[in-house]
Amino acid sequence: MSKPLKGVILAGGLGTRLKPLTNITNKHLLPVYDQPMIFHPLRKMVEAGIDEIMLVTGGNNAGDFLRLLGDGRSFGIRRLQYTYQKGEGGIAEALGLAEEFCEGHPLLVFLGDNLVFDSLQPFVRQYHQHSRGGMILLKAVENLSAYGVPQFKGERIIKIVEKPKAPPSPYAVIGVYFYDAQVFKIIKTLKPSRRGELEITDVNNHYIRRRQMQYGILQGHWADAGESIDSWFEANVMLQRERRLKK
Ligand code: G1P
Repeated sequence: MSKPLKGVILAGGLGTRLKPLTNITNKHLLPVYDQPMIFHPLRKMVEAGIDEIMLVTGGNNAGDFLRLLGDGRSFGIRRLQYTYQKGEGGIAEALGLAEEFCEGHPLLVFLGDNLVFDSLQPFVRQYHQHSRGGMILLKAVENLSAYGVPQFKGERIIKIVEKPKAPPSPYAVIGVYFYDAQVFKIIKTLKPSRRGELEITDVNNHYIRRRQMQYGILQGHWADAGESIDSWFEANVMLQRERRLKK
């Protein structure tokens, strides 16, 4: 049996694209319809069977996460750990802080501003068929130049282009990633991008070059609530609609 997945939720950053809503708080603490944004990735992970989670945050409001989430037991989390990213070193740098927590287990990494409406369970099963390398999830969207976009050769992804002017396919790479423990070695080889950050897309391209990257395609809605005020607003509406359907 392969080791169970551990979860890492990345909830740092300055939330610049959501200013002025983020002037005095972390974007992941903002409401999305009836809940703070951070509840969504936590609940999604628990629903997918993950009960050991690390939350990486940063900036001035780190203490508020502890006040809000405590030890995580009320969400069904057995072990909730927190760590702190200094500065703005990027998503991949933030993930690197979880190395000791992961103890060689494979990981499900969730960008804390992403809302996924599909169940993650089938994708967890798909990843566990190999439990090696990485797996990304794709969603067909319109404003592709805000995201990482895969380029295909037949059915195979040959690279991901970050925020492309001319998108090579109709899919965005969403902020939910599966990795094996090699990811920490890969992160150590990365160089900062033009925006001065260690990019998660460079991690993914590493796995793609090694031909160790699978992918899945989402059928349901997806929102990146941190992309702009409009996408945050749209995420609120999506969640409201989802709640009404479930009533
Ligand atoms: C990040 C990734 C991008 C991905 C997006 C999904 O973008 O770099 O590849 O499509 O998350 O939310 P960022 O939010 O850092 O602009």
